[in-house]
Amino acid sequence: MSSSNQLDKKSQAWSALFSEPMSELVQRYTASVGFDRRLWKADIAGSLAHAEMLAAQGVIGAGDLADIRRGMAQITAEIESGRFEWKLALEDVHLNIEARLTQLVGDAGKRLHTGRSRNDQVATDVRLWLRDEIDGLSTLLIELQRALVGLADANAEVILPGFTHLQVAQPVSFGHHLLAYVEMFARDAERFADVRRRTNRLPLGSAALAGTSYPLDRERVARTLGMVDDAGRPSVCQNSLDAVSDRDFAIEFSAAASLTMIHVSRFSEELVLWMSQNFGFIDLADRFCTGSSIMPQKKNPDVPELARGKTGRVVGHLMGLLTLMKGQPLAYNKDNQEDKEPLFDTADTLRDTLRIFCELVGGITVKPEAMERAARRGYATATDLADYLVKKGLPFRDAHEAVAHAVKVAITQGVDLAELPLATLQGFHPAIAEDVFEVLTLRGSLDARQALGGTAPAQVRAQVARHRARLG
Ligand code: ARG
Repeated sequence: MSSSNQLDKKSQAWSALFSEPMSELVQRYTASVGFDRRLWKADIAGSLAHAEMLAAQGVIGAGDLADIRRGMAQITAEIESGRFEWKLALEDVHLNIEARLTQLVGDAGKRLHTGRSRNDQVATDVRLWLRDEIDGLSTLLIELQRALVGLADANAEVILPGFTHLQVAQPVSFGHHLLAYVEMFARDAERFADVRRRTNRLPLGSAALAGTSYPLDRERVARTLGMVDDAGRPSVCQNSLDAVSDRDFAIEFSAAASLTMIHVSRFSEELVLWMSQNFGFIDLADRFCTGSSIMPQKKNPDVPELARGKTGRVVGHLMGLLTLMKGQPLAYNKDNQEDKEPLFDTADTLRDTLRIFCELVGGITVKPEAMERAARRGYATATDLADYLVKKGLPFRDAHEAVAHAVKVAITQGVDLAELPLATLQGFHPAIAEDVFEVLTLRGSLDARQALGGTAPAQVRAQVARHRARLG
């Protein structure tokens, strides 16, 4: 039997120890090649770095290395062109590639696995793959922040009713409101940068669990794979048992992704509310909406609704990964094969969501009159009237009480505070004078909030400038 056929027959892949083949069902149950094949690039990169190091250390010959490089180049071409034949019987991406390599280059292929196990191999592959995903997501987060900053800049002066408990609270700049999301996405980006540092460490060289007796140069492999710390020093997992078993980096990524999705979901919820007829604050470009098959008047905000829904899926994956890890004794257990599908789906879902939202922000039409009307309707300047009385010498609690009476009267008469005659207002407190009307305007309320982090348009513009400098 040829060497490649040996690996083809799963029951004989391990050793002569196995005396019966796997059933179809067990084969399907244990195989991961259906989904882990997307790790192929990382798998080949890891193998090449390992082979180069083995040759440099004299563990394999220069001829072996040349053969392995040649074989991997061909495998790369085969996979890229869709000609590579993935075999379920070969269980996973690692065995599929190794078997093909041996088929192509013979003994050199069989030497590649010296000082290595699939346990440190898969841990390395997932980390390399995830590092690239994090880089892509980080770029998208910058793009999304830029889009939001642009919209905030254009709407620094637009007045929106700010809500607490979804009741009109105080007027805010719409730009200020949008910049709140920029802060959230900026923190998300920080989290991903932090996760990247711990993800970008090399397990390879830990072998199955105990390390290896071959004179491996792990730091060299780390450098080849770009697994270096902020100072450019090679980043190598320092305990072989830990290196092959823990997936905390994947869990951290999943947590960071969940938080990002939750931020997108909160924004989505607002878009849905704002677009409803009851608010009418914005319109979304048609390309992000769908109609109804029965109600001809409908235009539904499907994209934000789906993003809100997909958040549940990403948070679910986080729970899945946490639970996957919790009962595992050291070191590697096959449970860990189950980390991939949630991880892949998390990255895919988040990437698509962020890409769509980068565009969607540009498709928001703002309706400033509707926003302002809603702010006026909700007595949003009541706090300003209280503050006005405090400046006239009243203790805040008394001012609060006086204004509550004023709001009650205004509600009864169906008018805004600013529409009450001066004489009526003075009935609530004699300190109220003609200058009160300036305070009761929405714009006056906004302009008063000049403290750092406040909603005054001048502050919003300063924040826009800060973000632009930060985002480049
Ligand atoms: N496909 C496996 C995984 O994803 C690779 C490692 C398997 N190692 C083993 N000894 N069975 O975790």
